[in-house]
Amino acid sequence: MPAISPALEVTPEAATAALLARIDRTRLPVHVAVIMDGNGRWAEARRLERGEGHAAGVESVRDTVEAAAALGLSALTLFAFSLENWRRPAEEVEALMDLVKRYLKLETGNLIANSIRFRALGRVHELPRDVREMVAETSAATAHCTGLAMNVALNYGGRAEIVDAAREFARRALAEGRVPDLDEGAFSEHLSTRGLPDPDLLIRTSGEMRLSNFLLFQSAYTEFWTTETLWPDFRRRHLSEAVVGFPRRIRRYGGLR
Ligand code: FPP
Repeated sequence: MPAISPALEVTPEAATAALLARIDRTRLPVHVAVIMDGNGRWAEARRLERGEGHAAGVESVRDTVEAAAALGLSALTLFAFSLENWRRPAEEVEALMDLVKRYLKLETGNLIANSIRFRALGRVHELPRDVREMVAETSAATAHCTGLAMNVALNYGGRAEIVDAAREFARRALAEGRVPDLDEGAFSEHLSTRGLPDPDLLIRTSGEMRLSNFLLFQSAYTEFWTTETLWPDFRRRHLSEAVVGFPRRIRRYGGLR
């Protein structure tokens, strides 16, 4: 069989460029959320420690954030650490906390340069002090940025977020001597995503098809996109692929077309 001429090979970069050229930028999702899954399997397949899978996953975070900003998305929300993740071995939890800290330390300048505003979602007050401080520092340093809103869910659980918001809503009403008067709009302003639009598209890697307690209230009408690709292998071309198909989705919000 004749060898394929190198000139005919389609590189991943060329494939990405072709996909990007096809994107109708006026119909892009505004807010994309991502469940970054498969770091452990990626590491195990290479006989590495699970922490090394998470470390490789940070490269995917960098590439995806850069790509989201370049595509002109308004918001990108990444699920980095759930309330349930504390059940993992202490050394894995420590490795994850270190990676978050190191990422923020190294990337804050880059985020500012690209006008990316950072926010952490979840029970941030329960995180180790050094992580909390780094989160506060990066949030403050990027607060003026008007480009992509980058949200990282840390110590986050969707049910806990709803319960926390309900409790806070009732507490405030009682403090003001009035009966809590709940509606969806006012309630969502008590969630950690306050001010953000609901996600239009939720990406989950590694072939899993679960919501895993992520953005439960906010995902009522979110479109799902899943890939077998493990998170450490996820790159901008995968984000482009997910986003390219989005304008074809017909969203009815329970009504008729
Ligand atoms: C799920 O894979 C992934 C996580 C629990 C952590 C994700 C964190 C990062 C990518 C790094 C830090 C993030 C930032 C924003 C700097 P898993 O371990 O559950 O994989 P498995 O299902 O294959 O075991």
